[in-house]
Amino acid sequence: MLRGPGSRLRVTVAPAAALAVALLSSVSHCSHPEQKDREVLPLSSYFGTKTRYEDAIYKDAHSEEPRQDLYLLEEACTPVQLVALIRHGTRYPTAKQIRKLRQLHDLLQARRAGNNRADAGGGRDLGAALADWPLWYEDWVDGQLVEKGRQDMRQLALRLASLFPTLFSRENYGRLQLVTSSKHRCVESSVAFLNALWQHCYPELPLPDVKEMECGPPRINDKLMRFFDHCEKFSSEVENNDTALYHVEAFKTGPEMQDILKKVAATLQVPVNSLNADLIQVAFFTCSFDLAIKGVKSPWCDVFDTDDGKVLEYLNDLKQYWKRGYGYAINSRSSCGLFQDIFQHLDKAVEQKKRSQPVSSPVILQFGHAETLLPLLSLMGYFKDKEPLTAYNYKEQINRKFRSGLIVPYASNLVFVLYHCKNAQTPKEEFQVQMLLNEKVLPLAHSQETVSLYEDLKNHYKDILQSCHTSQECKLPKVNNTSDEL
Ligand SMILES: *[C@@H]1O[C@H](CO)[C@@H](O)[C@H](O)[C@H]1NC(C)=O
Ligand SMILES: *[C@@H]1O[C@H](CO)[C@@H](O)[C@H](O)[C@H]1NC(C)=O
Ligand SMILES: *[C@@H]1O[C@H](CO)[C@@H](O)[C@H](O)[C@H]1NC(C)=O
Repeated sequence: MLRGPGSRLRVTVAPAAALAVALLSSVSHCSHPEQKDREVLPLSSYFGTKTRYEDAIYKDAHSEEPRQDLYLLEEACTPVQLVALIRHGTRYPTAKQIRKLRQLHDLLQARRAGNNRADAGGGRDLGAALADWPLWYEDWVDGQLVEKGRQDMRQLALRLASLFPTLFSRENYGRLQLVTSSKHRCVESSVAFLNALWQHCYPELPLPDVKEMECGPPRINDKLMRFFDHCEKFSSEVENNDTALYHVEAFKTGPEMQDILKKVAATLQVPVNSLNADLIQVAFFTCSFDLAIKGVKSPWCDVFDTDDGKVLEYLNDLKQYWKRGYGYAINSRSSCGLFQDIFQHLDKAVEQKKRSQPVSSPVILQFGHAETLLPLLSLMGYFKDKEPLTAYNYKEQINRKFRSGLIVPYASNLVFVLYHCKNAQTPKEEFQVQMLLNEKVLPLAHSQETVSLYEDLKNHYKDILQSCHTSQECKLPKVNNTSDEL
């Protein structure tokens, strides 16, 4: 037991010995039939938004046991509400990525046909191995959730349920509130999560259809979970603006990418001008897809070393930075409706507790995208580097905070936990909040503490809570072109 620095609350720290015991017992008592020897590659942590959850931060994500090193509040405090924002699990490539991959595959097959005539009987090289490697993604899979993605959700659900047993109780099952983006992968993720919770609460009962569940099926709400599609200013100034991603384009033709291009062309024995940064990136992602989806190491991984991995990771981060992060204010401002929605839930729970009423929605689960989480985390001031990420400061940014693979891998999650605390010394009751990002406590931006008084947190974000209105933020400035028409 330790007293948290500067906080009036006790926090639990698992001592090393207890941790070792816990790990041992989880090995001996629990079997994880789905857990195979996990293929870990030197490249695994450079896949940005295509990083597996377990490669990002949480090495034991295959486990259904919660982490042992969490500093959760206890004793005087009871969790009364949990609001979680969850990215869908592992998914297939999109149709666009598959088309580019096919283009690359065709190129290699054409090259091999040519080479065979030139030097028949030559040894097998990487280019030939790649030409033979099956291209198993068809257009119809277009970004859908894969089985591994369902597993990501099941395991996350079970870990959260055992971390907060009083919230994920059988009595609360009917009061679960699930909201999702309309995208198939998100709907499927929310259903997998819900099903896992059902089996957790009612292990003896058969799994009903979600439509028959007491809490009802997850509700689709794109205004909330895909706010970026509903923000006119974001669409015109960023999404559909050819120059908004200037740094991404400049980096693609910059020296770091050119070096990789030349190297890959030499490895594959194709002309440099038959390749471009987009094709290189899709080749790199194919390594990530084969790994995340099939659990296999594809020969595409052998095309790149870790230095290439870092450059390609930067390319991915640059795009996220300018399109979803600090690059433009509208990226994060467009998420303030979602931010306010989260606080409305927390406010309501606080009000209900103050009136000694039961909390009507103890668990709220919101399923979205990396594009949902990144703007919100930026709005809250997280992972902000001193200097912007540009096409020209790759080296200076090597230790940057903004690494999308660590922040928003598949199944990434931001959890707000509201606690009701009754202090023995002072009869006054109070409300505290903790935030967890990917099942690790996220220190609060205003204090760096692991816990905050709810009022202090609201006060810190007062401007966003009171003065950010998406309808205003997302409005385009009126252009008066009357004079042009004359
Ligand atoms: C597109 O982005 C550039 C760079 O940020 C900006 O200067 C320009 O005003 C934007 N165009 C539109 C139509 O918003
Ligand atoms: C400007 O004028 C064009 C042609 O008259 C019109 O179609 C367009 O909607 C106007 N744009 C704005 C922003 O008012
Ligand atoms: C638009 O511009 C014209 C000419 O500059 C001006 O006369 C008119 O009042 C303006 N309209 C509005 C709505 O601002």
